[in-house]
Amino acid sequence: MRVHVADHPLITHKLTVLRDRSTPSPTFRALAEELVTLLAYEATRGVRVEEVTVETPVATARGLAIANPKPLIVPILRAGLGMLEGMTKLIPSAEVGFLGMVRDEKTLEPTTYAERLPDDLSNRQCFVLDPMLATGGSLLAAIEFLFARGAQDVTAVCLLAAPEGLAFIEEATAGREVTIVLGALDEKLNELGYIVPGLGDAGDRLYGVV
Ligand code: PRP
Ligand code: URA
Repeated sequence: MRVHVADHPLITHKLTVLRDRSTPSPTFRALAEELVTLLAYEATRGVRVEEVTVETPVATARGLAIANPKPLIVPILRAGLGMLEGMTKLIPSAEVGFLGMVRDEKTLEPTTYAERLPDDLSNRQCFVLDPMLATGGSLLAAIEFLFARGAQDVTAVCLLAAPEGLAFIEEATAGREVTIVLGALDEKLNELGYIVPGLGDAGDRLYGVV
């Protein structure tokens, strides 16, 4: 597993505002989107491309185009939805599939309540979006889902992660093509399974308490 933790003052600045409990939902949503676009730059470093030529007004130029099959972006509902637009801005030709997951607040076990993905993901590069990697249960379930459908490799883009969750994913996906791109790696999980210092409940902060 490859892990990339962002090291850029703009990203840390935006994350700092996101963490602030007094940041209201509209600002939180705007920042989450901006952060994903910045993280997507790193996450798509290995995106498959093919050589093409274009006619400039002056001559023929060689360049690159995103290869087929197009990448698949998979936001994990609900909080991952807040990251979708930031990612599609960068790869507009990507397709989008959806996974709905919620973790039980007591057992911290995830349940999948929605799935809208192509049946066959052979040779697909998949980009999973979820702001929070806490115990890692939700992300692992998503990664396993995608590999079971034939995905070639999976890159997860998360705003924050706990070391415990990262270690869990690393052990459980040994030998698979998995990359995790993070805005920050935080200190730990607390006894309720929240990332510390974290930013609280990402879904609630994006969309309100359910
Ligand atoms: C949050 C978050 C992740 C998950 C992380 O979602 O968006 O999906 O928890 O926790 P884990 O690493 O311990 O599995 P939540 O289940 O709260 O649902 P929501 O997105 O609908 O708020
Ligand atoms: N899910 C969240 O939204 N926040 C956390 O800190 C952990 C899981």
